[in-house]
Amino acid sequence: MSEFGYRDDRLFAEGVALADVARAVGTPCYVYSSAAILARYQAFAAAFAGRPHRVCYAVKANGNLAVLNLLAGAGAGFDIVSAGELERVLAAGGRADRCVFAGVGKRADEIDRALRAGVRCFNVESAAELERIESIAAELGVRAPIAIRVNPDVDANTHPYIATGLRENKFGVPIESAPALYARAAASGHLDVRGVACHIGSQLTGLEPFRDAFGRVAALVAALRAGGIGIEHVDVGGGVGVRYKDESPPAIGAYAEVVRNAFADETLEIVVEPGRALVAEAGVLLTRVEYLKDGAERGFAIVDAAMNDLLRPALYDAWHDIVPLQRRHAGTRGRWDVVGPVCESGDFIGRERELVLVPGDVLAVCTAGAYGFAMSSSYNARPRPPEVMIRGESWHVVRPRERLEALYAGESVLPQI
Ligand code: LLP
Repeated sequence: MSEFGYRDDRLFAEGVALADVARAVGTPCYVYSSAAILARYQAFAAAFAGRPHRVCYAVKANGNLAVLNLLAGAGAGFDIVSAGELERVLAAGGRADRCVFAGVGKRADEIDRALRAGVRCFNVESAAELERIESIAAELGVRAPIAIRVNPDVDANTHPYIATGLRENKFGVPIESAPALYARAAASGHLDVRGVACHIGSQLTGLEPFRDAFGRVAALVAALRAGGIGIEHVDVGGGVGVRYKDESPPAIGAYAEVVRNAFADETLEIVVEPGRALVAEAGVLLTRVEYLKDGAERGFAIVDAAMNDLLRPALYDAWHDIVPLQRRHAGTRGRWDVVGPVCESGDFIGRERELVLVPGDVLAVCTAGAYGFAMSSSYNARPRPPEVMIRGESWHVVRPRERLEALYAGESVLPQI
């Protein structure tokens, strides 16, 4: 995307040479462009302009406080899936009354916290959850705002681990059972029916599954309204894909058109929960080549980032472009498996990549702003990498590299006997 590009063979993000960041904070390191994030947010906001709407950023994609604060400042709400994400939003200056609380397994303490904080809506995923929310709201003497997340049973054509809208998935309530549940909720003194929610999967690259799902949800909304149940908003979930390799995901405007057409009634507010589409292309992971090694079958470029820093290749066999911070014109182009130091053969960042490399080179793993740091761990006792945010010509460490002592802080040995 345009915020990242080469100038005289050096890779820049906005006005900053990424090699300068790598030199100052070391590698591995995540770098985000604030301009890229804001541009994507504005694209969503513009696409729904003139229609009541709220863009609720899916915190799970990248929950760094700087990211949340930037989006809160631009007017975003948030899609949260845990009390931890709620605390992040509040710590970043976001508003609880702009949070929708999703997730199949909300614990009682999380529901209690979210009700006290005054979240905008619970996206309820089962009859049992509805009952739990009702009883906690009754204890607190309040009415809990709810939407029911329906499962429209459509094939999202995405990786099976991130498809959620099929009957076989654990998410939501079968759409045909929703009316009975709504009737039950509408009759409760401690539940306040606000909307209908759905989310059919992530990294969708075609519009057809959205069109299918939204058609079914629109029919449900119409039936509920006709039955006197006051539906104020429809939450269409996230899922708009990005280009990692050669995909051609829909433009945000085209996606919004599908939503607007499906829900033509202008009195219905649209809530949309993009995660990846806002932040994936706004981030890179910088990593240094430690060793080049000739294997029997192929060459290995052993880098200092690993599956603990970026899990997507190991978990989903996901592709991320890998490019040098400094383009080289001389040297031999090799075919490298770019791998990390973790003791697993699944620990790779990219396979069979054509690159001109020498040890010490720093590489950028692209499109890593979503589900990158957020899914990182300290496996192999590797401290999690720092995160840096760029704003124009300046850059800021928005999370330092984890200290080694932090890896075992809070642990203890058994008492002496
Ligand atoms: N809303 C709900 C209810 C969700 O479950 C998700 C993502 C989103 C919104 C945001 O979806 P997005 O706009 O980012 O596609 N770790 C995986 C992605 C998991 C997505 C889970 N749910 C990956 O790295 O591809």
